Amino acid sequence: MRTILIWCLSLICVFSQLPAQISPQSQATKNNSATIVRGAYLQAIAPHSITIRWRTDVPTDSRVLAGKTMNYGISVQNTTFTTEHEITLSGLESNQQYFYAVGTTTEILQGDSTNKFISAPAQGEFIPVRVWATGDFGNGSAAQAAVRDAYLNYDSKPTNLWIWLGDNAYASGTDSEYQTNVFDMYPEPLKRFPLMPSPGNHDYGNTGFASGITLTTDAPYFSIFTTPQNGESGGIPSFSPKYYSYNYSNIHFVSLDSYGSLQDPGSPMVEWLKSDLANHNQRWTIVYFHHPPYTKGTHDSDTEIELYSIRQNIIPILEQHGVDLVLSGHSHSNERSYLLHGHYGLSYTFSPSMMVQPNHTNFVKSPPYTGTVYAICGTSGQSPGPSQNDAPMPCMFFNDFNTNCSMVLDIDRDLLSAKYLTSAGTVLHEFSITKTGPSSIIEYGEVSYEITYDSSDQSVLLTCFSTKKTSMKISLCGLKGELISNFTDIPASLPQGYSMQKIKLPELSKAMYLIVLQLDDQLFSKKLLMGK
Ligand SMILES: [Fe+2]
Repeated sequence: MRTILIWCLSLICVFSQLPAQISPQSQATKNNSATIVRGAYLQAIAPHSITIRWRTDVPTDSRVLAGKTMNYGISVQNTTFTTEHEITLSGLESNQQYFYAVGTTTEILQGDSTNKFISAPAQGEFIPVRVWATGDFGNGSAAQAAVRDAYLNYDSKPTNLWIWLGDNAYASGTDSEYQTNVFDMYPEPLKRFPLMPSPGNHDYGNTGFASGITLTTDAPYFSIFTTPQNGESGGIPSFSPKYYSYNYSNIHFVSLDSYGSLQDPGSPMVEWLKSDLANHNQRWTIVYFHHPPYTKGTHDSDTEIELYSIRQNIIPILEQHGVDLVLSGHSHSNERSYLLHGHYGLSYTFSPSMMVQPNHTNFVKSPPYTGTVYAICGTSGQSPGPSQNDAPMPCMFFNDFNTNCSMVLDIDRDLLSAKYLTSAGTVLHEFSITKTGPSSIIEYGEVSYEITYDSSDQSVLLTCFSTKKTSMKISLCGLKGELISNFTDIPASLPQGYSMQKIKLPELSKAMYLIVLQLDDQLFSKKLLMGK
């Protein structure tokens, strides 16, 4: 507590006009007394805050200037001298482009027109989102540079998020390897793309799956990155730097630790994951971690404990909560599954019944939104292949063991599209997921909803999108309005965002019935043929 108090006293956060002696036009990249040797890089982005970090060669105090123009206007400083600078800007407007500059309290060390970011949208504010995903990249190779350049030259859409699929710095995730193979490799992307990493085995120095030192946070990864572990960007706080979640537009992202955290039932990461997935109301759920549950690339998910542990302990939880897309690396391959549900055994146990729908490229998910696509991109620097002798994995639709790639995700309301972008700048493979059901575009009222009847278990599925918390009553009536059931065991309100409620029906003889829905003071009804 005393340490925190001292830190708080030394941190002076002042929103003020830019001091007159600092001219934005006189920005230098370094001064005589201190040089930036790492960053700046962008962490823990949220609708109203972001953390900016950088390293200097000698200790200095820290200051970030920021604003919607390069005249800045916001100034946040910390007078403690350090080489590891970390400043959090708060009070930002959501979904706005900000320019920023970093340096000391008397001098800008870095800050030009490329030092900029877009703050995250506010809850309920839906914007098209571009995500760049890279896996197994940090080896300092020409291939890593080519994959980077292919993405930077791909198009002009701004990058909202950059997610890392682990094995970020080879061979052992040391600080100097992070310097050479990551920070020196991506100076421009790191200045502009808010980064949400996950760790791989090499970031832990390959010290052993979920054992010994791997279970600690001693690896340099944990001192280099600041992740939103306290729920500051939405999601349930994990209070762990190893795994965390956050919302962005209408997407819930989860970054897991597939190497340095226990995965047994009841372990902290597993219990947090269950709670987190059960308590968000976003349209999409994207989960990423390093070790893939299904692969026959440079690794074999039938024989390696890290991989079948994920498949047996984590995948059933993800599928139970309707996760849409799982991204991984580790195998130096590009592999992408069918829309799957229920494949928790070895590769030979795969059967067509585990494919949720026959379409294999452009998926359509309707309520209750069953099915998950698993994609591997472990080729963003490391040489691809060779694959296992019994490749490909039967549950995989797309398999490439020869090409360096990154992944480009675009999510716009009810459409998610994903591309494997090669180091040559071509699209090797693409797929999409479209969601049907209640629309988030509401022209009248505050709720859109869809009611469907499931004859297999005599239930009704109520799927809703609500712009605010809304009181709810639902009842079952005959066609003349006579009450049959009030369903008193369902929640009394809808949360803001998306929600789904499965309602078990009483014994009914086959006939037409009315489902009557009261949302605040508005009544809706739907006539359905139900019963048996
Ligand atoms: Fe790996």
